[in-house]
Amino acid sequence: MSVSPITWPAKDFSRVPFSIYHDPAVYLDELDKIFHGPTWNYLALEAELPNPGDFITTLLGETSVIVSRDAEGRVHAFVNRCKHRGATLRREACGNAKSHTCIYHQWAYSLDGRLQSVPFAKGMKGEGGLPKDFDKSSIRLDMLTVEVYKGVVFASFSPAAEPLADYLGPAVIAELDRLFARKVKVLGYQRQRIFGNWKLYNDNVRDPNHGGLLHMFHATFGLYRLSQVGGAKMDGKHRHNITYNQLGSDDTADNAGYDGTTKVFQEGYQLLDKSMLEYKRDYPDMVSLVILSVFPSVVFQQIANSLCTRQIRPRGVDEVELYWTYFGYEDDSEEMTRHRLLQANLAGPGGYISMEDGEAVQLVHETSARAQAQHALVEIGGTGEIKDAKNLISEVPIRGFWSYYCELMGFEAGTPRNQARVVNQEAA
Ligand SMILES: [Fe+2]
Repeated sequence: MSVSPITWPAKDFSRVPFSIYHDPAVYLDELDKIFHGPTWNYLALEAELPNPGDFITTLLGETSVIVSRDAEGRVHAFVNRCKHRGATLRREACGNAKSHTCIYHQWAYSLDGRLQSVPFAKGMKGEGGLPKDFDKSSIRLDMLTVEVYKGVVFASFSPAAEPLADYLGPAVIAELDRLFARKVKVLGYQRQRIFGNWKLYNDNVRDPNHGGLLHMFHATFGLYRLSQVGGAKMDGKHRHNITYNQLGSDDTADNAGYDGTTKVFQEGYQLLDKSMLEYKRDYPDMVSLVILSVFPSVVFQQIANSLCTRQIRPRGVDEVELYWTYFGYEDDSEEMTRHRLLQANLAGPGGYISMEDGEAVQLVHETSARAQAQHALVEIGGTGEIKDAKNLISEVPIRGFWSYYCELMGFEAGTPRNQARVVNQEAA
C-alpha cells in the first residue's frame, strides 16, 4: 500500500520524492519493470567460472540465478528454481558439476538448463511414474539472455532489451575496454548489508560531489579532492555514469574557494606508511579513479590500484546488499597483487573511503521515511539539461539516473500524480 503521494514536481528531476525510497508497491513494481524489465544486469566475471562445469549462484533483483559454463565453454544463466515444485536448485555460492540436481526429488538439469532425468520416471512394474506423454525435452529452467563483454557477464530477463553494446553505449564501453584490456583474476569478495533502499546507493555512486566531502580520508590524503581534474560522463540516456579524477592534479591553494565554515580536509594529517595512497600506473592515461555505474545494479571501481565490481542487490524496500568482487590482472607480479590487496582496504564495508557511504544511505533512508511528502533537492552542478560535467562539484548524474528510472517505471515528471496532496513548499 502506498503511504504517501509520489510526485515529481520538476521536469529536470531536480526534486526527488522521498516516498520513492519507501513505497512497498513501488518496490514490487521495480522488481518487475526494472530488474525483470529491459535492462542488462551484471552477474559475474568470466574469471570466476573458467572451466566447463563451473557455476556460481548470484542474484538479479531478488531472483536467485545460476551462471553455468557448459561442456562447450558457453556461459548460460537461468533462474535457480526447479521446474518441478519450485525448490531452490543450488544452495552453494559456487562449484563444479556435470549437472544441476534438485535435492527435493532429484530432477537433474544439464549445464545449459535442460531437464535431463527424473528418478523413477517409468515407475515400478508398470505402476506410478510420469505419464507416458510427458515430454522431458519441453522442460528447461527459466533462461536469461546472456551477453559477455570483455569477460564481464551480463544478463537480461527481457527479450525486449536492446543489444548489450547499445545499452551500455560508447562511453561505458570505452571504460570497460580500459579496465578489462588485460585478463583478470579474482582476489576475493566482501558482502555488506545497508539499511536503506537500493536506489539510495545508486544516488550515492552518481554523486561526485560527496566524494570529497563525506570521505575525509580521500580528501585529507589527496586521493580525491573536489579541486582535482575530473568529471562525470554519461551515456545518451543518462542512465549510466562515469566519475573520474586525477590524483595530484591540484594543490592545497585550490581549496581556497571554500568559505571556511566546512572542513574539506584535515590539515596536518600524515600517514607514516604512504603505500595505501600510491598509484602504480595501470593504464596509459593519468586517471587514477573511476567509479563506473551501470544502471541498475553494478559499479565498476578503480581507486588507485584497487579494482572491484560492486553488485547492488535489493533486499526489500528497506535494505540493500552490496557484493564486492575484488580483482587484479593475471599478469600482475606478486608485489602488485599484494599492493592491490592492501588497497582493497580503501573500499568495502569497512573501507577507509566507503564505510561512510553505508552510513549516509542509512541516514537518508531513516529520516526521509518520516517526511514522505517532501522531496530531495538535486541542484549542484546545475538544473535543466542533464549533461556531462568537467568538474567534480556536481550531482547531475543523479538526475540522469532518475530520468531513466521514471521512463521505465512510467512516472511522468512535472505532472504530479496527485497534485492536490503536494505539501512540500519546494514543490511549488
Ligand atoms: Fe562515497
